[in-house]
Amino acid sequence: MKVLVIGSHGMLGSDLVNRLSNLSDQKNPGNEVIAADREHVDITHGEDASKFIAQVKPDVIINCAAFSNVDACETQISEAFAVNASGARNVALAGKLTGARVIHISTDYVFDGMKNEPYLETDTPNPISVYGKSKLEGELAVQEIGGNYVIIRTAWLFGPYRNNFVTTMLELGRKNRSVSVVTDQHGSPTYTTDLSDAIRTAISKDLRGIYHVTNSGTCSRYEWAQKIFELTGNQVSVLPLKTADYKRAARVPPNSSLDCTKYATTTGQKMRPWQEALREYISKALR
Ligand SMILES: NC(=O)c1ccc[n+]([C@@H]2O[C@H](COP(=O)([O-])OP(=O)(O)OC[C@H]3O[C@@H](n4cnc5c(N)ncnc54)[C@H](OP(=O)(O)O)[C@@H]3O)[C@@H](O)[C@H]2O)c1
Repeated sequence: MKVLVIGSHGMLGSDLVNRLSNLSDQKNPGNEVIAADREHVDITHGEDASKFIAQVKPDVIINCAAFSNVDACETQISEAFAVNASGARNVALAGKLTGARVIHISTDYVFDGMKNEPYLETDTPNPISVYGKSKLEGELAVQEIGGNYVIIRTAWLFGPYRNNFVTTMLELGRKNRSVSVVTDQHGSPTYTTDLSDAIRTAISKDLRGIYHVTNSGTCSRYEWAQKIFELTGNQVSVLPLKTADYKRAARVPPNSSLDCTKYATTTGQKMRPWQEALREYISKALR
């Protein structure tokens, strides 16, 4: 099976290529992983994307490419929609035309965060940021084009590639005795390595439709930061802050935790708690 990963230099794409390649070697020697990023194909150009995908002839396309800087999306609106909406459409269309399965990666930020419980796949999205709106438009395009697709919504990614909340906290903790972190944003931190394995499962179990996939459990960003410093042993005080007192360009959902029961019951695989995943990531990062 030939698997094309688009956005392969990103935080998720890099880990995914790594995991799929390793597992291909051990379990499925016939599998071939093709890694592509912006220098190979710009997904905002429909014709280029079609040509590239027709040349590669993948059995499966995993679209990890995104304009993922949530605050920058607020000012670079057309760029955000070009990648997250039109780009998603171009990849889905090219996938359908070549008969490839399309795994599209989306986000918890399609929700407004006003629900008091984790969001189900059947809950109605209502994004409150340009990023969330552009990602929702991408989801809708993938669904409208049809074909063999699965949309995986995930959240709060951390992993060995690229900067993320954990690396930011570690950097701040190196320079300061205290850091202020918001207490009123809740979600599920998710390890890119675990998500990569779940994506592999989505392929092998032939999932279709929309699935929520995060590490299990929910916390506030404040609690996440506390856990990071507890695991690293850094003597850093985490001070509570309210979102209203933290100036940033984009509005973010107060609760964007996702209910992943559908993934667990369909595949028989429950994602491990975020604390365990974080422990593994930090122990590898500090080695
Ligand atoms: N990060 C999170 O916390 C989070 C949370 C929920 C969902 N997600 C979703 O998870 C997926 C992966 O996110 P991530 O954090 O891994 O993103 P990322 O690190 O920003 O990686 C995205 C990749 O896409 C590439 N790309 C951007 N525009 C492109 C284009 N026009 N053509 C081809 N490639 C392009 C980027 O290249 P450049 O570096 O050159 O721009 C980058 O390599 C995305 O769908 C994102 O929306 C992320």
